[in-house]
Amino acid sequence: MFAILRQRATNLIDDLTTGLVNNMRFSDSDVLYPSDGKVEKGKGVEAEWFYDSFKAPNGTSELDTIHMYITQEAMFEELGELMMGIALVEMKHLDKLADLIKDLGGRVDRPNNTDKIEYGSTPEQAVRIAIAGETAAIKGYEALTERIAALPRNGTTRYTLSLLAKLLADERFHVALFEQWLHGNDAYE
Ligand SMILES: [Fe+2]
Ligand SMILES: [Fe+2]
Repeated sequence: MFAILRQRATNLIDDLTTGLVNNMRFSDSDVLYPSDGKVEKGKGVEAEWFYDSFKAPNGTSELDTIHMYITQEAMFEELGELMMGIALVEMKHLDKLADLIKDLGGRVDRPNNTDKIEYGSTPEQAVRIAIAGETAAIKGYEALTERIAALPRNGTTRYTLSLLAKLLADERFHVALFEQWLHGNDAYE
C-alpha cells in the first residue's frame, strides 16, 4: 500500500465543482457559497427544516428539480443546454444541503419518489413548470431565512443564512433565465 491518502475531510472535487458552478452562466456569480463554517447540532437550527428543500416528493425540492430538468432536457432538444446547465447548479445545491443536514444530525437517506413531477408536453410548458418550481423553492428558502434570522447569532446560524442567501440568489437567477427564454421564443403571454 504505497498510495498517499488524502485526509478524509478534503474533497477536491467538491471544491472544483463549487468553483465551476460559481463561474457558470447558470448561477448568480455575484453571490458565492460561504466557506465551510462550523455547523453544529443544538444551536437552534434543526436539520428537519431543510428536508422539504433537499429531497421530498413535492416537485420543487432540489432532487425533484434535478430529475425534472434532466428529463426535460431529454424531451425537448431546444431546452437542452439551459436545462443541463441549471441542473448542474441544482446538484451543487443538493450537495450543500446534504452536508448541512448531516452536520445538523439529520438523515439524508430517506426515500423519495418522483411521481409528483410534471414535465410539460411542449418546451413552453416545460419552462413554465420550471418557473413555478423555482418560485416555490424561493418561497421555501425565504421562509427558512426568516425563521433562522430570528434565532440568536452563532456560527451555525451565520453559515446557514449565508448558504440560504446563495441558494436564493441562484433560484432568482434561474427564474430570470427561464423568463428570458420565454421572451426569446415569443411564448410570453
Ligand atoms: Fe436549487
Ligand atoms: Fe433553481
